[in-house]
Amino acid sequence: MNQDIKNICCIGAGYVGGPTMSVIASNCPNIQVNVVDINPERVAAWNDRDIANLPIYEPGLGQIIKKCRGYNLHFSTNIEENISKADLIFISVNTPTKTSGIGAGQAIDLKWVEESSRTIAKYAKGFTIVVEKSTLPVKTAQKIKEILQATSANKGVSFEKKFSVLSNPEFLAEGNAIKNLEEPDRILIGGDDEESIKALAGIYSKWVDVKKILTTDLWSSELSKLIANAFLAQRISSINSMSALCEITGAHIKDVAVAVGADKRIGKYFLNAGPGFGGSCFKKDISNLIYICNHYGLYEVSEYWQKVLDINNWQQRRLIEIILKKLFGTISEKKIAILGFSFKADTNDTRESPAIFICKKLIEEGANLYIYDPKVNNNQIDYDLKRVLEKSFHEKDLWQCCELIEEATNNADAAVILTEWDEFKKLNWNDINKMMRQPAWIFDTRSTIEIKKLANKNINIWQTGFGN
Ligand code: NAD
Ligand code: UGA
Repeated sequence: MNQDIKNICCIGAGYVGGPTMSVIASNCPNIQVNVVDINPERVAAWNDRDIANLPIYEPGLGQIIKKCRGYNLHFSTNIEENISKADLIFISVNTPTKTSGIGAGQAIDLKWVEESSRTIAKYAKGFTIVVEKSTLPVKTAQKIKEILQATSANKGVSFEKKFSVLSNPEFLAEGNAIKNLEEPDRILIGGDDEESIKALAGIYSKWVDVKKILTTDLWSSELSKLIANAFLAQRISSINSMSALCEITGAHIKDVAVAVGADKRIGKYFLNAGPGFGGSCFKKDISNLIYICNHYGLYEVSEYWQKVLDINNWQQRRLIEIILKKLFGTISEKKIAILGFSFKADTNDTRESPAIFICKKLIEEGANLYIYDPKVNNNQIDYDLKRVLEKSFHEKDLWQCCELIEEATNNADAAVILTEWDEFKKLNWNDINKMMRQPAWIFDTRSTIEIKKLANKNINIWQTGFGN
């Protein structure tokens, strides 16, 4: 069916739905883009006049919102009406790991995807293209199709209701979302209806070179997204595993990464050793891949990928042990500054942030944490820590959030840099060190400090993957 897309609805105004629809609206002024969500606070934040109050911090996002919001970009809780008006609907809802029941800890909870599909089936009118934007287990499109078909076959539903289901996974990385969306490495569209694929490709072709628009079948598209994330996470576990070997042997992981990455077949990106990968997706998507492999009896494959997760957990446990060892085996009642709480720089997202696990362990060892992050708000930090700490740790005054870095570092026994925010790279560690209780330690898990440039060579600095 030839489809001229004039009206888009995106279900889910999250880290993907918000930025992705903003970039579509910005590049397609003739298309009306409506982003809907069940969460009224989130929608209100997207509609806040003050750009600083948007629910997501993402460089470049504010300018696009200013340009498009109210013209062809709208955020709303009116799901039914916006679905009924849409020619094309993106499903961009959360797909977390199941927390209970069969597959708990590994399988994806498809509750929100199923709910969205049922709502689409109920309120869509005429011919509608339904696009999977969320990251989904392979074969989910089949389930969506079944829900859409069953509902449209119901008595009393207009016989004109027809759907085409496409897969169009999102590859953006937070902190770089706008750049990634404006200049993607590729756009992937999976489907079995040529006209619908053409209609979706037509939207992207407004700003993306058509050579970068790859089309395939549904299952290859769904699976490519999971595999891409697994490969990316694997690189981080590879470099982190080698960071430990560098520390023992006196090698430097940064130099090793440059030497190894200079080989074009390996490539220089994504080889930064650190406190382990965080973020809402790597762990969830690899766990899902493991679950799928086990389901199909591919036990060796699932064991292989399980190791990527195991190394990530090990890297974080290893850091705690190093901190304890350097601080004479005890951190009880010691002041420790935590610099950075988000899972990476340039985002306020803390989902699966290494900082959560590391802070939890330090608190359990009795440390007093002074936490500073330029974009994560205090309530989020409290929420994240209370969620993982036993109740007995909530009552005591074991952590506090700081407005200034100095508040965190003054008189501290140690500073632990957990996120590679630019402002940490500019800090004067000679001065900060003087204000700390000696002998103080700086644990630079992201290697943000250029040690060679420091005037005082006697500052105790530990960096991931740097042997002495
Ligand atoms: P998110 O939690 O930030 O946003 C999801 C939103 O969907 C929430 O605001 C929630 O209220 C809303 N929602 C849930 N059910 C709904 C319903 N029935 N109707 C309307 N709204 C509903 O999640 P996210 O980070 O944007 O991720 C969304 C999907 O994209 C996930 O599958 C994720 O794996 C994938 N993904 C995420 C990223 C990323 O960087 N965060 C990148 C690529 C892909
Ligand atoms: C990742 C992928 O990069 C995206 O392509 C994908 O779309 C997204 O997951 C998703 O599906 O959600 P994101 O998690 O936002 O994006 O951020 P990354 O830049 O991949 O970083 C993930 C984690 O790995 C962070 O904690 C980061 O600090 C860490 N990392 C990254 C390293 O420790 N070393 C590196 O070299 C790179």
